Amino acid sequence: MSDELQYAGTLDELKRRGRLVVRGSHRPILLIHDRDRIFALDNRCPHMGFPLEQGSVEDGILTCHWHHARFDLASGCTFDLWADEVPTCPVVVRGGEIWVKPQFGPAEPAAYWRLRLQDGMAHNLGLVIAKAVQGQLAAGIAPLEIVAQAALFGAEHLDGWTSGMTILTALANLIAMLPKPDAYLALFHGARHVARDCDGATTPRKRSALASRPDASTLKRWLRHWSAVRHAEAAMRTLLTAIAADARSPAIADLLFAAETDRVFADGGHSLDFINKAFECLDLIGWQHAGVLLPCIVGPLVAARGAEESTEWRQPADLIALCNQAASELSAQLGLGGARGPWSRHAELAEALLSADAQGVVAAVISAARDGASGDDLGRSLSYAAALRVARFGGANEHGDWESAHHVFTYCNAVHQGLKRIGNDPERAGEWVALLRGILHGAAAIYLIRYLNVPPARLPGECGDRLDDLPAGADEIRAALLEAFDRQHQVEAAARLVARHLAMGHAPELIISTLAHALLREDAGFHAYQMLEAGARQFHEWADVRARRHILIAVTRYLAAHSPTERSWLQTATIAERLARGDQLYENV
Ligand code: FES
Repeated sequence: MSDELQYAGTLDELKRRGRLVVRGSHRPILLIHDRDRIFALDNRCPHMGFPLEQGSVEDGILTCHWHHARFDLASGCTFDLWADEVPTCPVVVRGGEIWVKPQFGPAEPAAYWRLRLQDGMAHNLGLVIAKAVQGQLAAGIAPLEIVAQAALFGAEHLDGWTSGMTILTALANLIAMLPKPDAYLALFHGARHVARDCDGATTPRKRSALASRPDASTLKRWLRHWSAVRHAEAAMRTLLTAIAADARSPAIADLLFAAETDRVFADGGHSLDFINKAFECLDLIGWQHAGVLLPCIVGPLVAARGAEESTEWRQPADLIALCNQAASELSAQLGLGGARGPWSRHAELAEALLSADAQGVVAAVISAARDGASGDDLGRSLSYAAALRVARFGGANEHGDWESAHHVFTYCNAVHQGLKRIGNDPERAGEWVALLRGILHGAAAIYLIRYLNVPPARLPGECGDRLDDLPAGADEIRAALLEAFDRQHQVEAAARLVARHLAMGHAPELIISTLAHALLREDAGFHAYQMLEAGARQFHEWADVRARRHILIAVTRYLAAHSPTERSWLQTATIAERLARGDQLYENV
């Protein structure tokens, strides 16, 4: 941008030709003479960059001839919101000469692009959202500040937590490890998914806390009751009262997870994961927003259907009765207080959780607790066992079965993260944590999907598969991995490359960020984002290289099974990026 005036031509020439294009310092500038006025605009259509000089002007309205977006010539504002506004710049005439000031950017870019993000989300306009994210990053706004804007927009416009809010949070959790271009894509995808959910959604009504401050155990009892009888308004007021009384993360987590796990593996695990993601979102944007954000999860919590209502959990073995009985035993082991551990048989317990004997699975959990395993330990083993179900997903399954494996894994990860959160609360040391029932529910869910590993897929890098046929260098492996994601049916090839990368001792962060890049260029579904984020989190829970490899193989196989897609959103993000950079997207067309 420049404060200097730039010569653009003579008034006579412009009048004669009607329009002129001059090369500005950052972008081509279109000068238009219309009804004795002169206008200067960015010559690249804000929609996709088509040269506006080829458009038509009528009655003060400029029409682009590509997708026929229309713009007010005087201000650059669009009549077709999907196309965005055309940037304009000042123009002066001196002694028959036209001079432009090639300064297109807003005076206060941070504030301007913040408003544009709100506009883009309000109208669910992907291109505007992409430009606003791009503009804010260029203005030096921290990525998590953009996450906060998108999350609070969602909380203001949604009457319940949604998949978009989960995607936003999952990607925000990964942002610190992403290179800048991928951080941009992560923010764009997160914000656009929230905007999509808000489009046409019912705006939430204002609710307030009770005027009294009942103690924590009363509030917990009330919330569980309101959830059980599906009274959303009552549950909402109870939750707001709990937040007003004690907005600490562990206290609120204990309250909500207790109500959540009163139902077993509710909504295929999604409603518990939603609660966990709402907490993680607050960790990122600040717990001062708890009163705004957390009410979103009441709807899914109250409406969720528990597995106790489904036949598969009752027949042929009554898994609900088994879990209930085991919960009493687990309570006796873990509700007694005092220090736990040390306990280090995580991998052994995970293998035991993969047994085809439901009683044995539950007994293994109880036995580990008796031996000193904490809730965190149990959660880690549980998540690893669920990851192994995904890693060993057999080729004979239907494609839709991937989602069954995915649901169990993300549920187990959410239980694990919830237990870590509550376990850190010194005020609850020794108390029975109702969320521990999630360990049993997760274990039963892992048992139920055992058919997905019949026969089990071979794990790359094991049983004589030395991977020697694959490239050795980190860059070559990563390039080959991205190439594999360009084609369908590359589940095994992609998993072998990831195993190779780890076997060669290359930095695991490199391969995780490559998986993230592969995901971010796709029009990925909700589950793919969940899978990557839960996998990355569980990967970092382990020092053991074997477990780490298995977890990343699980993530890779799932992502490869869902790639490639059309990549249409990558196209939108790229256009926004190129327009911001000043590129000429189309010349001489
Ligand atoms: S309307 Fe101008 S490029 Fe699409």
